[in-house]
Amino acid sequence: MTNHETIKTPDSPRHSKDRGTKSSNNDQMTIPDIQNAYARYAKWIDRLGWLNRLLTGRFRRRQFSEATGRVLDVACGAGTNFQYVPESTEIVGIDISEPLLERARSELETLERDGTVTQMDAQDLEFEDDSFDTVISSFSTCTFPDRVAALREMARVCRPDGQILLLEHGRSDNDLIARYQEWRADAHYEKSGCRVTQEPLSVVRRAGLSVDEAETAQLGRITRIVCDPVLDETNE
Ligand SMILES: C[S@@+](CC[C@H](N)C(=O)[O-])C[C@H]1O[C@@H](n2cnc3c(N)ncnc32)[C@H](O)[C@@H]1O
Repeated sequence: MTNHETIKTPDSPRHSKDRGTKSSNNDQMTIPDIQNAYARYAKWIDRLGWLNRLLTGRFRRRQFSEATGRVLDVACGAGTNFQYVPESTEIVGIDISEPLLERARSELETLERDGTVTQMDAQDLEFEDDSFDTVISSFSTCTFPDRVAALREMARVCRPDGQILLLEHGRSDNDLIARYQEWRADAHYEKSGCRVTQEPLSVVRRAGLSVDEAETAQLGRITRIVCDPVLDETNE
């Protein structure tokens, strides 16, 4: 990606499978803001990667071990998902943060996996329609400036008979935790660009993706979603 200052709005269809969007829903954080936030976060990943795997590893394994064929990991970060994707697949990772991509490249090497990782905006993927058998993404929609555009891009590049596998975090079902999340939400967003109180299923439905399977864990904080890449234009 060459121009980080320009974000294509979802209302400017460019790809043949674009079907317009139902909501642009941009927040105030821009792509450069997010890159700055994750440049700071990258230093912590090296120290706390083990904790991340401890807390989320079993959810990642359950969700991504079903990936097949050519797999796109959207917003792959440091490549944490790569070890949970079957060895028979080819991994393509994209992210907006170069420091995290460096770690993702090392992860591919460590795992001795074939694959590529490239800097790219999830909201404007530089792939042809129907390029992947499986599209995966974890803990990412909370951060995309335009979540609907990114999800619709995932649908566009996934083969119609493929799957979109998402693992997301969001508002807890537990009142006490949800209130704490609400209290921290603005400060957390300003620091990291992450919407800690988002409702992943409603975002996915707003994008027009059909949900085949959904399951929550950790008092509703983690949601596993399996989507059909064929957009359902009747969804709200
Ligand atoms: C919370 S991290 C999750 C990283 C990784 N998927 C994981 O599970 O560890 C969110 C990621 O989204 C990436 N990101 C945010 N906006 C993006 C965009 N528009 N395009 C591509 N990546 C983006 C960030 O750089 C960051 O790596």
